[in-house]
Amino acid sequence: MQDSFIQAGKEQQLVPTTEPERQYYFMELLRRHNEKKSTELGRALTYHIETFGCQMNAKDSEKLAGILETAGYVPVDSEQADFVLYNTCTVRENANTKVYGRIGYLGNLKSKNPDMRIALCGCMMQEPHVIEKIKKSYRFVDIVFGTHNIYMLAELIWRRVSGQKQVFEILDGTSKIVEELPSEHKYRFKAGVNIMYGCNNFCSYCIVPYVRGRERSRKPEDILAEVKKLASEGIVEVMLLGQNVNSYGKTLDNPVSFAQLLREVEKVDGIERIRFMTSHPKDLSDELIEVMRDSKKICRHLHLPMQSGSTEILRQMNRKYTKEDYLRLVEKIKTAMPEISLTTDIIVGFPGETEENFKDTLDVVEKAGFDSAYTFLYSKRTGTPAAAMENQVPEDIAKERFNRLLALVSEQSAKLTAKHTGEVAEVLVEEQNEQDASLMTGRLSNNLLVHFPGDRSLIGKLVPVKLEECKGFYYIGALQQ
Ligand code: 5AD
Ligand code: SF4
Repeated sequence: MQDSFIQAGKEQQLVPTTEPERQYYFMELLRRHNEKKSTELGRALTYHIETFGCQMNAKDSEKLAGILETAGYVPVDSEQADFVLYNTCTVRENANTKVYGRIGYLGNLKSKNPDMRIALCGCMMQEPHVIEKIKKSYRFVDIVFGTHNIYMLAELIWRRVSGQKQVFEILDGTSKIVEELPSEHKYRFKAGVNIMYGCNNFCSYCIVPYVRGRERSRKPEDILAEVKKLASEGIVEVMLLGQNVNSYGKTLDNPVSFAQLLREVEKVDGIERIRFMTSHPKDLSDELIEVMRDSKKICRHLHLPMQSGSTEILRQMNRKYTKEDYLRLVEKIKTAMPEISLTTDIIVGFPGETEENFKDTLDVVEKAGFDSAYTFLYSKRTGTPAAAMENQVPEDIAKERFNRLLALVSEQSAKLTAKHTGEVAEVLVEEQNEQDASLMTGRLSNNLLVHFPGDRSLIGKLVPVKLEECKGFYYIGALQQ
């Protein structure tokens, strides 16, 4: 226990040992400390969180922001802040490189403002070689924690404030789910909801199971309580989040399927749209397709990462489906919901990928018809089985394939997007357009963006918009009365 860092005297006996009470205790200690400090400075103490990576990290950052604001920090847009936190990603090597560069920049800022505190968290911090490097080369970093203990932020800051020079708190894994902590929302009309944490799939290229730990599902009653609370606060769209939502609920004491959970979320008054992310093709059930087909709230969008179109490469990737399985699944989904928008993730240059294997990927792209596809060059992640495979694909070959894939994906996506021209669709208005303030930006059920003349009073509302002109991956439209 690090409680020796908690102020001496009676307070020590008062530190709660159960969560989340313990964290509320530290948030309050920190809030009082910050209040004093801000009176001395004659201004509020500020914080800035920079989030790298996926929706899971974005959601974690909202929780971290909630803790910081409860502890008395106010948000600012730049890294010129009293407390700067980087929530990192390590899914591909370039994510890491980016973070190291930015930590160096923080070091410069801190040399001008010694009171500044720097914290790092997220997936990259679960890698032992990263921690070694930070200990050796970035001594100005104050606090480092991983993916399993973000709920402890206030406690960790308190340790630093109470005199510990550098605070490192990385847990190898956890079965604990600490909820009911404060959370900020980036938008007041849509929010992410974690339904599960971690991943058990061990795709051979992927580092996520190592840095996010084993799969843990939240109880359906906890998820529904959160969704109801969000609805009561005016949220109309929820995004249910998990690395593999299709295997939701399997490990609960009373197992529940993802499709059953969706049925319950659908019943919540006030929620108009439901999205989810991410689906693994191997676990996508007929029951889920039925629930989606019959639902008025589940959005007409499915993100279904295929990774490769080659059965042999899929086997090497440990994906547990074949090229034909994937195509059959797409066919089933499109038969049930012809208007659905299908998106995917594809990796190019996985070890051992031959020209023929790659042509299978192009073939599936042509046959499946993706509204958009995120394409990635394979990136070697230390500790994953694929990193030890001998036949790594030379970079020039992988890049050449990547460009061919991108050309096909873009051509297909432009064609599929354009087919909605002239339709009137329901749009959730999200924000004022950054380039042109006379335009508002909204999202269709199928996730396409549309810009149309309007004003800020529309933000958060569902309105009908005519899709007049397709501009590649978005539309220019007109509000219908
Ligand atoms: N190299 C390249 N892309 C990867 N992804 C995951 N791991 C790697 C890797 N080592 C991609 C997958 C996944 C997406 C989130 O990132 O396509 O679906
Ligand atoms: Fe990574 Fe595969 Fe798990 Fe997705 S399903 S997080 S790609 S291991």
